[in-house]
Order: sequence, then C-alpha cells, then structure tokens
Amino acid sequence: MKRKIAILGSTGSIGTQTLEVIRDHSDIFEVIGLAACRNAELLQFQAQAFHPQILALDRPERLNGSLPGCRIASPGVEGLVEVAAHPEVDTVVIATVGAAGLIPTLAALRAGKNIALANKEVLVMGGDILMAEARRLSRPIIPIDSEHSAILQCLQGEDYNRIRRIVITASGGPFRNWSFEQIQAATVSDALNHPTWSMGRKITIDSATLMNKGLEVIEAHHLFDLPVEKIDVVIHPQSIIHSMVEFTDGAVMAQMGLPDMRIPIQFALAFPERLPRNDPPLDLPSLGQLTFEPPDMERFPCLRIAREACRCGGGYPAVLSVANEEAVAAFLAGCISFGQISEIIQSEMDSFSNPSRLDFEAILAIESQTRESIRKRFGLAGQALRP
Ligand SMILES: NC(=O)c1ccc[n+]([C@@H]2O[C@H](COP(=O)([O-])OP(=O)(O)OC[C@H]3O[C@@H](n4cnc5c(N)ncnc54)[C@H](OP(=O)(O)O)[C@@H]3O)[C@@H](O)[C@H]2O)c1
Repeated sequence: MKRKIAILGSTGSIGTQTLEVIRDHSDIFEVIGLAACRNAELLQFQAQAFHPQILALDRPERLNGSLPGCRIASPGVEGLVEVAAHPEVDTVVIATVGAAGLIPTLAALRAGKNIALANKEVLVMGGDILMAEARRLSRPIIPIDSEHSAILQCLQGEDYNRIRRIVITASGGPFRNWSFEQIQAATVSDALNHPTWSMGRKITIDSATLMNKGLEVIEAHHLFDLPVEKIDVVIHPQSIIHSMVEFTDGAVMAQMGLPDMRIPIQFALAFPERLPRNDPPLDLPSLGQLTFEPPDMERFPCLRIAREACRCGGGYPAVLSVANEEAVAAFLAGCISFGQISEIIQSEMDSFSNPSRLDFEAILAIESQTRESIRKRFGLAGQALRP
C-alpha cells in the first residue's frame, strides 16, 4: 500500500522539494492533498502533475483550470484543515511558514495523521500542547528540519535518558564575519544572500539574524524533551554536520551529509525506513576541513533572546515567534532596519507576562495580541511574507 501524503505549503521551498521526493519514489508515495496560499499558478500545475483528491488555496476562486476528480477546499485556514484531515491521508507535511501551520497541525493530529514537520514556528508557539496531543494520540511528529532530523537519526536505538546534551550546528549565515555595526545596517539583499542553503525568504532572514537557530533550540526542546541547558549551538560554516548528540559516556554521534533538504524530507516521509537516493557521495577529502566556532550572542542577539524565551516557557516562545514574523515582514518590506528586528522582539518579550492558563485558545490570543501590539507600537503595515 502506498503512503498517502498531504502537503500544506506545497508551492514553497520545502513543499516543492517534497514533491520531488514523492516523484522520485512514486511507487511508495501518493499525493492526496495539496495546499498553498497565493501561488495559484504553481498549485494548479502541481495538481495537474500529481492528481490530488483535494486542493486548497487561500482564495480558491483563483484556481481556474480543469482538475477532474479534485475537490476544492474552503478558503483560508479551514481549507488547510480540510486537506490535513482528509480521510485518505496518512501523513501531513507541514511546510507552511510562521503561525499558518498551527491550527492545521493540531487538526491533523486529532484526525489521527502522522506529522512531518518543517514549519518549526508551529512547535515554537504550541509545542507543549502539540507534543502532549501527539503523545496522547500516539501520533509521531517527525522533524524535517535538517538539524532535528540529524538528532533523531543519532538517537535511533538510544535511550533518551543517556543524552548529556545535543549540539545544533549553524552555518552562521551571511553575516558570520561582519561587525556589529555592519550587521545593524545590512540591506534586504545582503540578508537574503545565504552562503549554503537556498530557502524561503522568512527562514533566510531568520538565518541571517540567527533567530532560526533560536527557533530550532525551542523546537528541539519540545521534540526531544530536553531543557534548554542541554541544547548547545555551534557555528559550522560548511553545513556538512547537521547536528550532534553527546551521550553520558562522552561518545558524540554526528549525522553528516551534503546540504540538501531532500535528504531529511525523504527520511521524514519514509520513517522509520530508509529509501535510496542517487545523489553524489559526500567527498570529505575534497571538502578538506570542517570547522567550528562558538556563536556570538552580542552580534546576534536573537539567539540569546530565543534561549531566554525557551527558559521562561509558557507563552514567551509564542510571543518571540510572532514578534519575529512581524519584524521580519517589516524588514523585508523596507519599513525597519535589520538591527531593529531584535529590538522589536526584545521589547515585546519585555512587556509580556504569562497568562495563568495556557491552552490552545490562549496561544491564538497571544498571536493576535502580539501582532496588534507591534503594528500599533511601530506603526507598521504588517505586510505578509510572500516571495
Ligand atoms: N526551506 C528550507 O530549506 C527549510 C529548512 C528547514 C525548515 N524550514 C521551515 O519550513 C517552513 C517552510 O519554509 P520554506 O522555506 O519552504 O518557505 P516558503 O518557500 O516561503 O514556502 C511557504 C509555503 O507556505 C505557503 N503558505 C504560507 N502561508 C500560508 C497560509 N496562510 N495558508 C496556506 N499556505 C501558506 C506558501 O504558499 P504560496 O507560495 O502559494 O503563497 C508556500 O507554499 C518554515 O517554517 C521554515 O522555517 C525550511
């Protein structure tokens, strides 16, 4: 029997690479549902190539070609939920960006689906609730992020009680060797120029601020049930070691490979199996050196702020993630400087205090209050983050 897949965010960087993996293993995987936001043309093209049973777009009236046998879902988040909870689907790939995947991920879990998660902000915002639901319903959340995929691979067959710490690697982004003053004044095109990975715009900016690593620390805290003190970050510019686990006996396991997201995507879709790929082998002699350095929290304050949010817990990581989304959108729209991204996030964190009860509704309320507060405080248009 084929594994039946739905992809939320199929038109993005992760979504399109997921479809490449599915095409390469069409004897094993079948597309049941696809969902996107604005890119009607690409979604339509994907539907014609993969013949899903259900298709969702934020404004479905923009789909105009003939799609026989394909149901068009409701507009907005309801459509994402319809795709995620479709009765034929086994695994939902959450490849949306920011808070967009939060409600559909919970809906997918509650509909009994396996989750392959790229949209890390979902776990950052709602990790306590989603992980508890996943445990209660015995549904796996398999990470697509290369770092968390690496950690999961290092932990196969291991006792989680024997973890001394995990070490998440970071390329360092385009500003690794820039001074604080240069970074503060970086332009949009400077920040979009990532040295090793080609990704969507929001995560590319998050890689430049190192907020991406901060979000990954919080994601790892939830996925592997570890306190922030046991999660370290090291800069590794070659992006060959994707992360490491150090065990209590001092042994360190690392997962290595070329920086190609199709490898962790395929691992997540096939988990717990491994499927073959025909990529060129990792040629270590031609790489020559693998180097490491500590992250600089002074030049990259977002990593420090994210670690603090993880330590505080409750609603702080949700504030962090939403404030970051808004600030990155404002930076991409030319409304604020690169240096203001961390200032905006810090000021939102400083004015927040945890509610007495943190359920899913409270997380959604934190999301709308944080967006509102930033837009008011900084007079920002709150532009959407679409490429
Ligand atoms: N790219 C990578 O290499 C990479 C690696 C690790 C983790 N991640 C994580 O994976 C997630 C996706 O990243 P990406 O780089 O693939 O982003 P991206 O290229 O910007 O793609 C985002 C996708 O989500 C869709 N989308 C956004 N908002 C939506 C909404 N409200 N409703 C429905 N669809 C919506 C977009 O649709 P339209 O294009 O049609 O508007 C697009 O298909 C992020 O959380 C990122 O941090 C990415």
